[in-house]
Amino acid sequence: MTLRAVVKGVGHYLPERVVPNSEFEEKIETSDEWIRSRSGIERRHFAAEGQTTSDLGIRAAQAALADAGLQPNDLDAIIVATSTADLTFPSAATMIQAGLGMTRGFAFDVQAVCAGFVFALTNANGLILSGSAKRVLVIGAETFSRIMDWEDRGTCVLFGDGAGALILEAEEGTGSTDDRGILATDLNSDGQYRDILYVDGGVSTGTTGYLRMQGKEVFRHAIEKLAQTAHTALDKIGLTGDDVDWIVPHQANLRIIKGTAQRMGVPMERVVVTVQDHGNTSAASIPLALSVGKERGQIKQGDLVVTEAIGGGLAWGSVVIRW
Ligand code: UT7
Repeated sequence: MTLRAVVKGVGHYLPERVVPNSEFEEKIETSDEWIRSRSGIERRHFAAEGQTTSDLGIRAAQAALADAGLQPNDLDAIIVATSTADLTFPSAATMIQAGLGMTRGFAFDVQAVCAGFVFALTNANGLILSGSAKRVLVIGAETFSRIMDWEDRGTCVLFGDGAGALILEAEEGTGSTDDRGILATDLNSDGQYRDILYVDGGVSTGTTGYLRMQGKEVFRHAIEKLAQTAHTALDKIGLTGDDVDWIVPHQANLRIIKGTAQRMGVPMERVVVTVQDHGNTSAASIPLALSVGKERGQIKQGDLVVTEAIGGGLAWGSVVIRW
């Protein structure tokens, strides 16, 4: 028998305020046409004043718990992928733990920027396979609107706020790729590229800082590295793009999503796309897309789902899940 980390519930939360591209046309030199054609983004959600990353995470977690029919104290651990925790410390995960009323287990954050959710899922899988936890809540939650330079048109039109959550539970499988649960993972990072996507603030500057990005450079790496990591993960279990029911990619740019799917030999009909409605929500984008994909009736139990993401670091990776 082989232990597997099986998906038991999924949920998401988006802040109420929806900001269409047209709102930027009034403030900076840009156009709805430019934003749509270069990124695929049509609108995004922004958190209300005072609404924090942990607030969004709590709402997404409650939705996932309801979907799984579980209570907070049924969980052993919470892992939160975020780069926009409410405070430098404590972690967003412990704030969410308190907000949910969970009084047992442990909680911690994972910071791998836009790739954070695949890093968090891989950590959760490791905790389950090692017997350290039986049920793990994995959350991606972000408020990137807090780190936007509103005068930098190359970045401020691209990002949004939101949260998604997934509950994984230990279950015995047979060891075959027909098992439900996480079947393979692949993680990578290369700090040589730390300067092409970063925030220019933090403990060393005494400021929160703003996101800075060399978009074209990141784009080039994304197209190459995303298909590569997805292939590597699939290779580990002897599967190919033909076996994939759904790619659920990090939602940064529709052109990157299409380019990656093409390189994997997977048609766009088998890709969950939410970037038009959410913008780039960094570590929240994959769990948001998983939850919306399930809600739309796209992702069904037994489907082979491949998630892949890249972000600041650079850090990138993928996770193959039998849903
Ligand atoms: O989630 C983490 C990973 N992040 C990503 O994956 C993002 C990767 N990069 C991208 O998605 C794309 O590079 C962007 C959407 C950021 C930009 O698309 P691009 O096709 O690479 O455009 P560009 O940066 O080369 O800019 C083209 C032109 C420039 O003008 P010039 O120099 O050609 O005259 C920019 O100044 O578009 C201009 N531009 C804009 N124009 C109108 C940049 N931002 C805007 C804007 N509105 N908002």
